[in-house]
Amino acid sequence: MKEWIAILDYGSQYTQLIARRIREQHVYSEIIRFDTPADRLRERMPKGIILSGGPSSVFEDGAPGVDPAIFELGVPILGVCYGMQLMSQVLGGKVRPGEAREYGKTPMKTLPGNDLFKGLPDSFIVWMSHGDRVAEIPAGFEVGATSANCPYAAIRNPTRRLYGIQFHPEVVHTEYGKQILSNFVFLICGAKGDWHLSAWIDETVEKMREKIGDDEVVLGLSGGVDSSVVAVLLNRAIGRRLHCIFVDNGLLRMHEAEQVEAMFDAKLGFDLTVARAAKRFYAALDGLSDPEAKRKAIGRTFVDVFAEEARRFSHCRFLGQGTIYPDVIESSHALKGPSQTIKSHHNVGGLPPDLKFELVEPLRDLFKDEVRAVGRELGMASELLDRQPFPGPGLGVRILGEVTEEKVRILQEADLRVQEEVRKLPGYKTIWQTFAVLLPVRTVGVMGDQRTYEYTCAVRSVDSVDAMTADWTRIPFETLATISNRIINEVRGINRVVYDISSKPPATIEWE
Ligand code: XMP
Repeated sequence: MKEWIAILDYGSQYTQLIARRIREQHVYSEIIRFDTPADRLRERMPKGIILSGGPSSVFEDGAPGVDPAIFELGVPILGVCYGMQLMSQVLGGKVRPGEAREYGKTPMKTLPGNDLFKGLPDSFIVWMSHGDRVAEIPAGFEVGATSANCPYAAIRNPTRRLYGIQFHPEVVHTEYGKQILSNFVFLICGAKGDWHLSAWIDETVEKMREKIGDDEVVLGLSGGVDSSVVAVLLNRAIGRRLHCIFVDNGLLRMHEAEQVEAMFDAKLGFDLTVARAAKRFYAALDGLSDPEAKRKAIGRTFVDVFAEEARRFSHCRFLGQGTIYPDVIESSHALKGPSQTIKSHHNVGGLPPDLKFELVEPLRDLFKDEVRAVGRELGMASELLDRQPFPGPGLGVRILGEVTEEKVRILQEADLRVQEEVRKLPGYKTIWQTFAVLLPVRTVGVMGDQRTYEYTCAVRSVDSVDAMTADWTRIPFETLATISNRIINEVRGINRVVYDISSKPPATIEWE
């Protein structure tokens, strides 16, 4: 049986990070519901269990609990923050409501002999974020570490292999956090660390073959990373019984459609249908300038076009989707429902009722960086895998006001120059997104001896970790100067370039 670490989710914003830190060490880990019964775990026994942190207090009515039988499974358990408090309470210790919140970087002293801290200095900085704290430890437990405000910063019961830590080892502010998790997983749980993506690929291809059998699959290709990796994986599993549909909406970046066609070419064994629907999208956008109306028109047209193409493949039993792990977790909301309600992917949301497919979602277990790593392992080009995010409605939300074919051409040309220049920056890979926006504002300029009256182009570049917040990239002035010169000299229709220096919030990343 494949070794794995179960992470019971109590809703901390860091739970996903725990899973990633463990997977980075080649041990498969999975986030599961906090109320998973011990019997369920017994069917697929993990090497160890982690109880995550969470926003609740054990004193609240309806605070998420744990099946006490989990502590009898005989596998090591690590409670983190709320997880430690819950474990202490369930096993007979006492938790005291917090008078003072302890938050941020905190020096901590460890006591000798604790496997969890093996190889670490006896004092270091940890990241705390808690109100309640353990006031009395359960019988059989001993202190593992202390901090100024927390006599029980870490506790353990070495005989039963139960561990609790009040701090968060998964965040970068905790020194040696990675090593603490590694000590838990390897020294305490005895994991081997033989989980590799190449094995994951073989397994997944095999699983897909079994699931799909002799049936066929239709897949919407967006040109983005997730759906492209799904296409390559499914193609490996079932060859030309995978039917890819790519909708060219006329709102893509320069050369994007050609790149997708080249990559999923028949010569390479793919069955690709390109729906050349630019004119339909332009017609749907005709006369619209309100951002929401434009988004809706683009979304509706996409579903129409996709459904028409997909109908030709209605004999297919399955629809492939690029759902990835964060989509699954985000939509399952740890403290409420089970992981059933999957976020409806913007690409296929709302297919008409006559099109009934079962889903195949080979990337459901993977984080974004793991999807990229799978892509690399499958031999896909890094230009595709390391792509910046691109919004579903494409250039439609980057041409402010009314969208016309002419404006699309102008923006594609400008954006190409932006892309070419930022790619030369040494820090390019750390930038979240860089793009051009076409403003419906014309200004007076002078070119040679001629007066010009042309559009303004805004350049937007942001740094972000999750797109929820973002700050504008400090692009070097020389690069901005080159971008501006190139756009004004090489792109007909633009005579002024400005740089967007707003952060999110209060601005958003896209302009519409
Ligand atoms: P905002 O503009 O909301 O964008 O700050 C946050 C991130 O989401 C991307 N984005 C979209 N992606 N469909 C998508 O697939 C959309 O309709 C859409 N709108 C915005 C945006 O590029 C940024 O990365």
